[in-house]
Amino acid sequence: MLPNKRILLGVTGGIAAYKAAELVRRLQDQGAQVRVVMTRAATEFVTPLTFQALSTYPVHTDLLNTETETVMGHIELARWADLIVIAPASADFLARLATGRGDDLLTTLCLAAECKIAIAPAMNQAMWAKAATQANRQLLLDRGMVFFGPEEGLQACGETGAGRLLDVAAIVEHCAGLFTTGLLSGKHVVITAGPTREALDPVRYISNHSSGKQGYALAEAAVLAGATVTLISGPTNLPPPDRTNFVPVVSAQDMYDAVMQTLDIADIVIGVAAVADYRPATLSEQKIKKSDGHNSMVLELIENPDIIKAVANSKHHPFTVGFAAETTNLLEYATKKLKQKNLDMIVANDVANHAIGFDSDDNETAVIWVDHVEQLPRMSKSNTAGRIIEFIAQRLAQKSGCA
Ligand code: PMT
Repeated sequence: MLPNKRILLGVTGGIAAYKAAELVRRLQDQGAQVRVVMTRAATEFVTPLTFQALSTYPVHTDLLNTETETVMGHIELARWADLIVIAPASADFLARLATGRGDDLLTTLCLAAECKIAIAPAMNQAMWAKAATQANRQLLLDRGMVFFGPEEGLQACGETGAGRLLDVAAIVEHCAGLFTTGLLSGKHVVITAGPTREALDPVRYISNHSSGKQGYALAEAAVLAGATVTLISGPTNLPPPDRTNFVPVVSAQDMYDAVMQTLDIADIVIGVAAVADYRPATLSEQKIKKSDGHNSMVLELIENPDIIKAVANSKHHPFTVGFAAETTNLLEYATKKLKQKNLDMIVANDVANHAIGFDSDDNETAVIWVDHVEQLPRMSKSNTAGRIIEFIAQRLAQKSGCA
C-alpha cells in the first residue's frame, strides 16, 4: 500500500509514544521507508535507540545536532519526505504547530516541508476537548493538514473519552489512502522503463545508465491511482512492482514488439524507458576478436524503431506521454520532441545533473503540453510520479470532454 513512500514519523511527548514504535514496523511492512524525528519530550517516554533500531536510520532529535545534520540536514530531511506523520501529536505540539513556531526540529521540519502533513493526536480527553486545542485543530485543518483520530475509549490516565491514539493499523491505512487516488480507475496504463541493451556479440552490448527508478515509480503511482498497469521494462536491478503485469525485455526491438501488443487495450502509454536510438547493424554470432595492428574500430549502427512515436501516430492513439532526457536546452529540445513525435505531453529532465537524473532517487522536471509548461520542484521520483499521474488524469478528462 505504500511502495517506496518516504515517511517522516514525528514522535512527540506522550504515553502513546510507545505505539509509534509499532507504527514504524507496520509502515515498513507496506513498503515505506521510515525516518524518525523525536521531540525532547518524546525521548522521556521511549529512547531514540528503539526507533533507530526499528527504522535502521539515525533518529533526529535536535535542530542543531552536528552529528545528525551531517548525515541529513533538516532542510534535506523535509525535502526527503513524501509524507510527514506526527504520531502521537500532543496538545502542546498542536499549539506550537498552529502558531507557526520553529523552536525545535520537528516544528521547523513542518514549516520547511512541501509535502502533506498528517496528525494523529493523543492526549487526555479534557485536553482534547478544550476550546484552545479544538481551535488549533481547526486552524491546522484549514491550512491543509489532515487528522487521523483521535479515537474514543479508556485512556492511560483512567478516564474515558476522545483522545486515544488511533489504532496503528488504521493510521497505516489512512496514510495509504492519501496516496490512493482512484484517478485512473478503469484505465489501462502501459509504461516502458529502464534501459535497452543492443547486442554487438554474445558478450557485449550498447546501453545507458537508466536504473528504471522513475519508470517503476510511475507504475506504482498508476496502481495507486486505480489503473491496470503493464510495465514493460529493460534490464534493471529493481524488483517488479506489486500488482503490475510485468513484461521484461532486453532490446529496443523487443520493447517495441511488447508495446505494440498492448496497443488495443492501452488507454495511456508512458515512455520512460531510455531506448537506444541505434543498434549495431550486424550481430556477431561469435565474440568479436581484437585484431592485432589496429588501434581503432568502426561500428556501423542502424536506427531502432521509435516506440513512443509509433504509439502516438497509431490509429488507436492512446493518451501518449514521453520523457525527454536532455543535457542542455531542456525546454526547447523537449518541446521539439513533443511536436515531432505527436505526443499529448512530455516530461523533461536534466540528465547532466547527477542529483536528479539517471539512477538518482530524486527528479526535477518540467511537464510540457503544446499550450502550457508546469515546473515541478526537486522531489522524490515517487512524488514526481504521483504529480505526473495527476496531470495525466486531468488532461485525459479534458480530452474526453469530461472536464
Ligand atoms: O531510470 P532512471 O535511472 O530513474 O532515470 C530516469 C530517466 C532519466 C531515464 C527518465 O526520467 C527519462 O528521461 N526517460 C527518457 C529517456 C530517453 O530516452 O529520452 P529521449 O529524449 O532520448 O527520448 C524521448 C522519448 O522517446 C522517451 O519517452 C523515450 O522513451 C522515447 N523513445 C526514444 C527512442 C526510441 N527509439 N523509442 C522511444 O520510444
